[in-house]
Amino acid sequence: MLEIHTVLCRAGQMDNYSYILHDKKSGITAVIDPSENAPIIKKLQELKLRLDYILNTHHHFDHTDGNLELKELFGAKVIGNQKDASRIPGLDFGVEDGQTYGLDKTGLDLADKKKDTDFIFKVIDVSAHTQGHVLYYFPQDKAVFTGDTLFNLCVGGLFEGTIEQMFTALSKIRALPEDVRFYPGHEYTFGGAHEAYNYFGGNEDIQDYLSQAQMRLKQGLPAGPFTLGEEKKCNPYLAADSLEEFRKLF
Ligand SMILES: [Fe+2]
Repeated sequence: MLEIHTVLCRAGQMDNYSYILHDKKSGITAVIDPSENAPIIKKLQELKLRLDYILNTHHHFDHTDGNLELKELFGAKVIGNQKDASRIPGLDFGVEDGQTYGLDKTGLDLADKKKDTDFIFKVIDVSAHTQGHVLYYFPQDKAVFTGDTLFNLCVGGLFEGTIEQMFTALSKIRALPEDVRFYPGHEYTFGGAHEAYNYFGGNEDIQDYLSQAQMRLKQGLPAGPFTLGEEKKCNPYLAADSLEEFRKLF
């Protein structure tokens, strides 16, 4: 099992979440979407870990700004979508949609060629927020890192894609198991709360969701993680079954 540590970056401005993942079996440590360096380095020091890899979900600066300095400091290698190679700073390993990879001290390869690691993830292309946005799904750990595609109670803006593409992207997330926990790229829970509350008529599920999120945020914790099953009951964008219904949300 992976240890997952959430790190709040650009606090009070963009409220990004970066995630430090440590795999005891292979001994590797990775960060997903290093938004800025200082909070990540501080957390690594607290955990007494050295960084081996950086995984990016998409090219936006608030997800990749840490890449080059962390590479230089730790000798970490950068992993991202091969199709977006020109926009991901310092990319070392390009990954492809639909492939499942394993990562260890010696590098990246297809999962069936890597035996001594629990750092196993599937790459899923969810182009819509940007072209080339991917998510990282760790089936053994029942965790998915959704970047700026799926947030708590809302979805990412359509910077480079269409409503149709976002519907397709979310259909891929909907197809994952219900008990998978999702880890978004920003803390936007209460940005989407009002719309979600009205959409579901303020039912018990949404009330429970919001009180749980509020309680955790008050304690200085992230609102999540919630499972995809919980999210489907409360996020209008995941609840919309048809493209027609989905369009009405924009
Ligand atoms: Fe973004």
